[in-house]
Amino acid sequence: MHKVLVTRAVFEPVVERLRQHFEVDYHAVDAPLTPDELVKKLAGKAGALTMPTDRIDAPLLAACPQLRVVCNSAVGYNNFDLDACSRAGVMATNTPGVLDDTTADIAWSLILASARRIVAADKWLRAGHWEGWKFKDWLGTDVHHATLGILGMGRIGQAIARRAAGFSMRVIYHNRRRLAEASERECNATWLTKNELLRNADFLVLMLPYTPESHHAIGAAELALMKPTAHLFNVARGGIVDDAALIEALQARRIAGAGLDVFEAEPELDPRFFTLDNVVLTPHIGSASSATRMKMALLAADNLIAALSGDKPPNLLNAFID
Ligand code: GLV
Repeated sequence: MHKVLVTRAVFEPVVERLRQHFEVDYHAVDAPLTPDELVKKLAGKAGALTMPTDRIDAPLLAACPQLRVVCNSAVGYNNFDLDACSRAGVMATNTPGVLDDTTADIAWSLILASARRIVAADKWLRAGHWEGWKFKDWLGTDVHHATLGILGMGRIGQAIARRAAGFSMRVIYHNRRRLAEASERECNATWLTKNELLRNADFLVLMLPYTPESHHAIGAAELALMKPTAHLFNVARGGIVDDAALIEALQARRIAGAGLDVFEAEPELDPRFFTLDNVVLTPHIGSASSATRMKMALLAADNLIAALSGDKPPNLLNAFID
């Protein structure tokens, strides 16, 4: 029986499913292992169910020669050095698809919260400031009939776009590869260059994978192209936005607002974020519904079971193995 590691706390049914196939070392603590602890725990393990907080890189792979597969319980896999995995002959998998709608929902939560100043209004009310209804209090921005921009139009970007129909919005997007005509029609979305997208969006959502090419895809130059009335949202990965440049733009009101679920050095945040009333902050909870987190972990487990049974895992990332 193969030995596998579950690196962090997951749901019991997931561990149960794995126990039917493997000898499972379950690290049932909801805190990341340090790189050294991870290497130690992986000794003698053929596979691991990992989390985005586990870094799988060349030094770790060199120290764990028995490892054959790493299965991330996340769609993003920037915590994997995929080339190093491929060089070491280690399969890597992720969990695409099952979290699309839940992540699209959080993008919309942030759009509405930022446009209508929900969080600031809630704080103000709880602080006892409300003296009565006022005609000109807490004026926000309309989402309906505005222009939604999406940078990164994969499955989640498209799920965000489809929801815009209910708000009668114009949808524009930029993606390196333009969508097929049928998908553009289904999303009612128009492709623009990145700069045109930046200039035209009222609400701009970033939904790119984080790679060396997308590092600081939004920095001072890009923010300068946006409308002063625009709002920016990052529900993808920290590092896609230059956080310092965004803070300066929000402070100077060069853009109107932002909603952020991810940060460059998370869980450390630039303390200047806490002084701004035009940003809504959430702690990387894009896929965090009970049902979706269960589906993600079960899919990661299915990938692990397939890989170590000699089958092609359904969500294999390495291009070279088939
Ligand atoms: C979560 O951040 C994911 O990539 O699934």
